[in-house]
Amino acid sequence: MIDHDDHRNTAPLNERVRSTDRAGRALVHVPTTYRLAHSVVVASNPTSPEAEAIGALRSHLLSQHVRLGRRGLAICAPTLQTGSTFVSVNLAVAMAQAGLKTLLIDGDMRRPSVHRMILPSREVPGLEEALVDSQTSFSDAVQDDVLPNLSIIFAGRQAHNPQELLAGPRFKALIDRCMRDYELTIIDTPPSNTNADSRRIASVVRYAAIVARKDVSFISDIETIVNDLKSDQVRVIGTIMNEY
Ligand SMILES: Nc1ncnc2c1ncn2[C@@H]1O[C@H](COP(=O)(O)OP(=O)(O)OP(=O)(O)O)[C@@H](O)[C@H]1O
Ligand SMILES: [Mg+2]
Repeated sequence: MIDHDDHRNTAPLNERVRSTDRAGRALVHVPTTYRLAHSVVVASNPTSPEAEAIGALRSHLLSQHVRLGRRGLAICAPTLQTGSTFVSVNLAVAMAQAGLKTLLIDGDMRRPSVHRMILPSREVPGLEEALVDSQTSFSDAVQDDVLPNLSIIFAGRQAHNPQELLAGPRFKALIDRCMRDYELTIIDTPPSNTNADSRRIASVVRYAAIVARKDVSFISDIETIVNDLKSDQVRVIGTIMNEY
């Protein structure tokens, strides 16, 4: 089970944490650092039209979704390459910049890509380990203080059975914990036409936004995903038309 009382990871990240091994020799754990790719436009190019569009989306969500006390949002897409990871990462960073205690989860366990936009300096445990490995606690899976106010659960090791893992009680317990501990949890999901993962994630989170690609996505595909989510009792808060 996920260890809800684990506080091992509470030391400030930017400090070297010293401890000793059994022989009393000092061990030095070098903290993980993170590099942002240029595609994190809200950090690399905050005055660009893309960053401004994300800022407008942030304002809308803060004044509606967050103000109403809703703490989770699954970012879903009807098909491949609509830009759902781009929107998830930039929105999470923008929320953190606004001072909201934000958690970003890479829920695409098949073709994860959050770690290509926010690059950790070493391999870190993530969602797969949290759902499979009883030795991995919630605190181990969450990378805290990636940026001020921003924590991340990366996808972790390649999962052999993502659908099974997401369907299990540990995933629901993990999301409940995230919603309790963070003001907003944003989850990137794989395209809904390739597997049922995004439907499962959205049904646990209960709120979803759709990312469609302007002049590329078909209206009928958007209608299908919206209807599927609604039939799962998911509240679809809107569709983001991404243009790139
Ligand atoms: N609005 C945008 N402006 C500039 N570049 C963008 C924009 N949206 C997406 N991109 C770029 O397009 C590429 C694909 O985007 P992304 O990985 O977010 O798509 P995706 O929908 O998550 O894809 P997949 O279906 O493979 O998960 C990335 O290189 C990303 O940086
Ligand atoms: Mg993606």
